[in-house]
Amino acid sequence: MQEQQFIPSKSYQLPEKGEVKWESPSNIALVKYWGKYGEQLPKNSSISFTLSHCKTTTQLSYQKKNSSKKFSFEVYLDGNRTESFEPKIEKFFERVEKYLPFLTEYHFKIETQNSFPHSSGIASSASGMSALALCLLQLERQANSAMTEEFFNQKASFLARLGSGSAARSIKGNLVVWGEHTAVNKSSNLYGVEFSDKVHEVFKNYQDTILLVDRGEKQVSSTVGHNLMHNHPFAEQRFLQANSNLEKILPVLQSGNLDDFIFIVEQEALSLHAMMMSSSPYFILIKPNTLEIINKIWEYRETHKSKICFTLDAGANVHVLYPENEKAKVLDFIKNQLVGYCQKGMYICDEVGFGAKPL
Ligand code: DP6
Repeated sequence: MQEQQFIPSKSYQLPEKGEVKWESPSNIALVKYWGKYGEQLPKNSSISFTLSHCKTTTQLSYQKKNSSKKFSFEVYLDGNRTESFEPKIEKFFERVEKYLPFLTEYHFKIETQNSFPHSSGIASSASGMSALALCLLQLERQANSAMTEEFFNQKASFLARLGSGSAARSIKGNLVVWGEHTAVNKSSNLYGVEFSDKVHEVFKNYQDTILLVDRGEKQVSSTVGHNLMHNHPFAEQRFLQANSNLEKILPVLQSGNLDDFIFIVEQEALSLHAMMMSSSPYFILIKPNTLEIINKIWEYRETHKSKICFTLDAGANVHVLYPENEKAKVLDFIKNQLVGYCQKGMYICDEVGFGAKPL
């Protein structure tokens, strides 16, 4: 599938006004995307668990306006006008206009809410951008009833990617691959595809408890971090490592071999942060408490013969991953030994989910 196929081939009779609403989840990468080229294309393939409870709900109200070449929209977060979000959305509109040519015909009101606390340090770009992409595409679908479900999901992921790369992986679930890879049928750099081979039962309800170590603004945004992979001395090796880890994790997701799963997932998390620490300029997003937690997890795994492990995104928070049958014991461990390392003792219990939903 090429970009051109996402450009509508004819103009449709679009509604005068109306509203659509979608909720879309966050996701946590097992094999990480870090480094991009062209227009939001990944330097390596990645795979993530779609989450269930961490999500964004977006209502898009649209009203035709007198034709003008300018975008017209206002953004509300939790009912409050949030002008600080508008430049990012303006940029997103510029990128997707070719594929949604009706954008300048409307005035939009974008009302959005996150299920997780604001400034929790949890990236809202994956859930936020995918929810907005879904709302906009829903508007096109209303005028084009011939659009298949498969095409809708592909184009939604394609548009979401243009807002934020990882958002391409939030449309479906429970495992999504983004980035072309010979081991994954129909995989593409343009959009995410569900990993549909038979996934082992243990991963169907895998748990992710997110420990909020640092809720502050990141000192270095993901976009800046991705760019530092250009001219990075270890970049090419890192892209090879990620593609190789993707190939290794696929049979593990089918067999349920948790020791292999743990090894790949933790190596990916630490390699991601190693790239940050060896960029020019270098930077560190983990905090002392991130390391304290990692060491406690390793100690607990060893002494309790547990299958608990961790992963990290581009921040200091720790995602604690474990099978559902260990839930009660791991939550006790978190409450007794890990909450002390979390800001204000905060953590969020989530688990694998199955993708975005219209409301
Ligand atoms: C470390 O998707 O936030 O979470 O494409 O610039 O919006 P942009 O970056 P973003 O990068 C996510 C990086 C990551 C790893 C991952 O989710 O694969």
